[in-house]
Amino acid sequence: MNGNMDWGMANRLSKTIRPDGRCFYLAMDHGYFQGPTHCLEQPGKAAEPLLPYIDALFVTRGVLRAVTNPAMNPALILRVSGGNSMVGKDLANEEATTAMDDIIRLNASAVGISVYIGSDYEHQTLMALAKLVNECTAYGIPVMAVTAVGRETGKMEARYLSLACRICAEFGASVVKTYYCEGFEKVTGGCPVPVVIAGGPKTDSEYEVLQFVYNGIQQGAIGVNLGRNIWQNECPVGMARSLQALIHENATPQEAYELFLSIKQDVK
Ligand code: R5P
Repeated sequence: MNGNMDWGMANRLSKTIRPDGRCFYLAMDHGYFQGPTHCLEQPGKAAEPLLPYIDALFVTRGVLRAVTNPAMNPALILRVSGGNSMVGKDLANEEATTAMDDIIRLNASAVGISVYIGSDYEHQTLMALAKLVNECTAYGIPVMAVTAVGRETGKMEARYLSLACRICAEFGASVVKTYYCEGFEKVTGGCPVPVVIAGGPKTDSEYEVLQFVYNGIQQGAIGVNLGRNIWQNECPVGMARSLQALIHENATPQEAYELFLSIKQDVK
């Protein structure tokens, strides 16, 4: 950790990036534009059994206040951008949603904001990131920038993602969340701050998830910010525990998968 960093910033970062340099964030912020996403209709109930395995929970202030226990152990990463929806005109049309005093009141260990680079809202979302970094830096709160692509899934490739991640880092993000892709080392190699991997839609198999997370970490990511591939799985606890083993215990994808299978069998 940077020795020149202020104590508050270092303290918050230490809650979201563990002493081994790795992190496991559980993303449950989807409702901010998707509404009651499948398996996330009751986010409090979905989160509760998974909390022992994760380092931080990524949610909006609405879900946080409504259904999470203030005594929860994982750190809080607050989703602070929005203003779009699945049924609206353009998924990229986001702005900051959450005032600085509420971020502080909720004791967020970090905040997350989406930027849509290359979209009609590139400038608007990048300037929202800049403003958030300015304000959060004053209070020692790290910012996680999310390289969002909206419906433009073709952008989930190394050339675009390396550009987007680097821009987020240049704007002062402490961590950048992006997608795993072929040539991922180009993305991490060009980004001077830590990169975490988002999951995307649920994959066909658990092994696939464990494999791309493992590959991503080998290629320079420090961990994950994963949602649907955990809580949409038929055994969410098995996925959470096996990802924890992969991220923090250096399990191989095969070892993590065997752990998943044994938990799934016990839970049945
Ligand atoms: C979506 O924009 C949300 O910000 C999620 O936090 C992110 O996509 C990670 O969740 P998932 O693994 O379900 O893609």
